[in-house]
Amino acid sequence: MRVAEKVALVTGAGKGIGEAIALRLADEGADVVINDIDRASAEATAEAVRAKGRRAAVAIGDVSKFDEVQTMVEGAIGKLGRIDILVNNAGIFIDKSIFRMEPRDFERVLQINLFGAWNFIKCVVPGMRERRYGKIVNISSRAMLGNPGQSNYSASKAGLVGMTRALALELGKFNINVNAVAPGAVMTDLLRQTSEENIQRMLANTPLGRIGDPVDIANAVLFLASDEASYITGQTLIVCGGRSLGASNL
Ligand SMILES: NC(=O)c1ccc[n+]([C@@H]2O[C@H](COP(=O)([O-])OP(=O)(O)OC[C@H]3O[C@@H](n4cnc5c(N)ncnc54)[C@H](O)[C@@H]3O)[C@@H](O)[C@H]2O)c1
Repeated sequence: MRVAEKVALVTGAGKGIGEAIALRLADEGADVVINDIDRASAEATAEAVRAKGRRAAVAIGDVSKFDEVQTMVEGAIGKLGRIDILVNNAGIFIDKSIFRMEPRDFERVLQINLFGAWNFIKCVVPGMRERRYGKIVNISSRAMLGNPGQSNYSASKAGLVGMTRALALELGKFNINVNAVAPGAVMTDLLRQTSEENIQRMLANTPLGRIGDPVDIANAVLFLASDEASYITGQTLIVCGGRSLGASNL
């Protein structure tokens, strides 16, 4: 058991990558708080965690609203005692060219993807500092390197990398590790919003020749959330089948 008896909170864990992360952490011994804006899917993930013999609680709310996050974190600590592992996974995209993107499209993506992670970190770190133990994993994206039509999304995901590095410097002395995982294309409802042509283009540029599975990302998160990674902080692990290598000539 790689995270035995730890308590984890995973945001956006009702489906997709967040759900896979919650289940992998439960497989390896963690109790899990499931955050999502959608109650039904959060309850379903919580049931799946309980089916693995671990405790689960749901924290329903919008990661972008600081007051809601404060209430959710207090409620989660009330139910499961503490938070040892925080995975900031909730994210959206609203892809448009700069000519069509409205200020509200830029703001919404930044609010959820970047402010949302900061909100949870802000509320969770006092307890981690007190116990001199914490693992924070932020879900960035290969798009941090830049993607056309994603000036909002790429900015949010690059912002997470900067925030990860800054907080690793601040929090190392409290034995709190802060790292990021940057997935490439992973088959979830989020990716299904993009065109088939776009998916084929990504596939053609992926040396490992397949679209990622949510569990590929969950395994990387599990490693960084475990004590196997206790001497790693401030890092971004790109999990993209090699697409970030610039394989367009393959
Ligand atoms: N799927 C990919 O190809 C891919 C690639 C790179 C990075 N990512 C990142 O991985 C993370 C998970 O993506 P996914 O593909 O599983 O997405 P998904 O859309 O399948 O799931 C996202 C979950 O987050 C929840 N959510 C959305 N907004 C929320 C909010 N404001 N507050 C709380 N919960 C909210 C949704 O209800 C949903 O359950 C995101 O941060 C995404 O940017 C995904």
